[in-house]
Amino acid sequence: RPGAGEWVPEGADLDGLRQAAETCRGCELWEDATQVVFSRGSPAARLMLVGEQPGDREDLEGEPFVGPAGRVLADALDAASVPDEDVYRTNAVKHFRFERRGKRRIHEKPAVGHLTACRPWLEAEIALVRPSAIVALGATAARSVLGAPVKIGEARGTVLESADASATPTIVTAHPSSLLRIREATDRQTAFDHLVDDLRTAARIAH
Ligand code: URA
Ligand code: SF4
Repeated sequence: RPGAGEWVPEGADLDGLRQAAETCRGCELWEDATQVVFSRGSPAARLMLVGEQPGDREDLEGEPFVGPAGRVLADALDAASVPDEDVYRTNAVKHFRFERRGKRRIHEKPAVGHLTACRPWLEAEIALVRPSAIVALGATAARSVLGAPVKIGEARGTVLESADASATPTIVTAHPSSLLRIREATDRQTAFDHLVDDLRTAARIAH
């Protein structure tokens, strides 16, 4: 895997990055995916939310967080009173990784090599958007942003620093899709409340 580095244009704006990412061959994930899913939000946003990778719906629509996890995230942002124009949404990995089971496409976690390969895009986004705070959604995003493995149970809600040159304050929290897997309603509510708390913390730091 050569990594995305050679595809990231020097001095480009956000649209330039977005366009260039369509041609990225930094790892093999582009081959089976429908399209690249780059990001959503204004470069003036103060808060950068980093997910893991696009899901099935995102792969088809070409937009991050438009599926079930995106719904949970939107509800949590709403509950935290974070206005949408303050938020830039992106992912650690820009192509959908999945396994085919018959007609279904089952999400498969990106490997560490995919995170490393795709990180030049994320670093270019951080350098351009210069967010005041980053929220890493889940362990995979946290690993990419922080450059080291973390346990969500231990790191959740604490303020760390991104591993790139900007050393941006970074809050680690649960991935919204993990909430969808909690069957017990009160446990799910508790997890949702934690997510809202962590988004509030990030918004406070970003102002
Ligand atoms: N999960 C993610 O991590 N990112 C998306 O864009 C959608 C679901
Ligand atoms: Fe490039 Fe990232 Fe897609 Fe791999 S996942 S091809 S590094 S954009």
